Amino acid sequence: MKKDVAYQKCINPQCGAEYDCAQTLVTCSACGELLDAQYDWDRVSVPDSMEAFAKRWTTRSRRLDFSGVWRFRDLLDFCPDDQKVSIGEGQTILEKNDRVAQHLGMDPGSVYLQYEGLNPSGSFKDNGMAAAFSHAKMVEATSCVCASTGNTSASVALYAHSCGLKCTVLIGTGRIAFGKLSQAMDYGAQTIQINGDFDDCMHQVQAVCQRLGLYLMNSLNPFRLEGQKTIMYRIIEGLGWEVPDWIIVPGGNLGNSSAFGKAFMELKQLGLINKVPRLAIVNATGADTLTELVNNRGLSWNDGRVDQGIIDDYYADLTAREFSPRTCASAIEISRPVNLKKCLRALEVCQGVVLAVTDPEICDARALIGRYGLGCEPASAATIAGLKHLLDEGVINPGERVACVLTGHVLKDPDVTVNYHKQKQGVFSNAPVEVENDLEAIIRLIQR
Ligand code: F0G
Repeated sequence: MKKDVAYQKCINPQCGAEYDCAQTLVTCSACGELLDAQYDWDRVSVPDSMEAFAKRWTTRSRRLDFSGVWRFRDLLDFCPDDQKVSIGEGQTILEKNDRVAQHLGMDPGSVYLQYEGLNPSGSFKDNGMAAAFSHAKMVEATSCVCASTGNTSASVALYAHSCGLKCTVLIGTGRIAFGKLSQAMDYGAQTIQINGDFDDCMHQVQAVCQRLGLYLMNSLNPFRLEGQKTIMYRIIEGLGWEVPDWIIVPGGNLGNSSAFGKAFMELKQLGLINKVPRLAIVNATGADTLTELVNNRGLSWNDGRVDQGIIDDYYADLTAREFSPRTCASAIEISRPVNLKKCLRALEVCQGVVLAVTDPEICDARALIGRYGLGCEPASAATIAGLKHLLDEGVINPGERVACVLTGHVLKDPDVTVNYHKQKQGVFSNAPVEVENDLEAIIRLIQR
């Protein structure tokens, strides 16, 4: 029987098992590895050039053309149009920011900030949820669940009530920024807090899915990552359909970096781009599994023959030390990233580099972006902190064109921001000044 145009495929080349898109799986039933959504591109009518997508701006009164995800539907067409979910995600902008460039000693026109905070729930997750909820609708799921450091739970809760699905989110007590927690509760999710970190939540949520047959909304879900590919399409769009030299992204559960690598792999294969950008993935030093495995333990994709022993040894070491990650960038406070292998593949496709930055570096970079740009939450600022390192090390040159993905809105984590300013933690601290309730005193202060 001829298989459908879209299908699921195991990422392990030694296995390569294929499954219908109508199946709800999170890993390969044959070997347990991650799954990709795949397409029989010969049977997809993909435009001849990326510019063709620009035409959809003129028809944005149509729901799918308005969506910054489904505007690119030809490149992720795994479900019928009438099942595609959208609540207006992906209306984001790529901001050329010469003041940040100048501050970093880069040339004008070289630093671009892709602001995903403009999404309906305030983070990049909505790109993925538009796709994952479309798949959930296609398989007639009625209840969904996720583990989260915060943004996934906010986004899942929002899409779930928009689509009429029941929704449960698992978060670690004390591990979530209040903006995000407020969203999950406000959007009506059953919000379960457990005494553990994100990795504990992720472990439990997979067991819950198995026991109760709930639909999993984490980035293990291959369809979610299809939606996140579109962040890259929009960066190319923002650059007049040119590919930048570098993409910089924070690394947590490694869904984004995996999706970005897949996006470029496919665009290259389809002849829609002629070069692939380099990828830099930035961890926080308190949650630096990827950096440790790649830079210090030599882990690589190696044509799909990933050395599992290196991963197992490191994770055994984490367990023995009772290690739990800690960073002010709570969004990326993760030590067992589920998309690790897909991310290794992305690093190979994009000649990627990985590095880790400290919390003070993240806080200063976050405030720099706030001072000169649209602002962002701490995890997003790991990009600019990482860029500074890569410039200092000569890995990136001041004239290269770099797009940093600002993954979440500035209001997601007001505590980190307020503490930075009030406690004068860094070079951009801008503490409020207290003065008595007296006009002359206020004027004196303003004129000082
Ligand atoms: N930036 C923000 C703002 C995030 O919320 C996350 C992940 C990341 C970066 C890391 O992205 O996992 O694709 O490497 N947040 C998840 C959550 C884990 O539960 O909200 P990744």
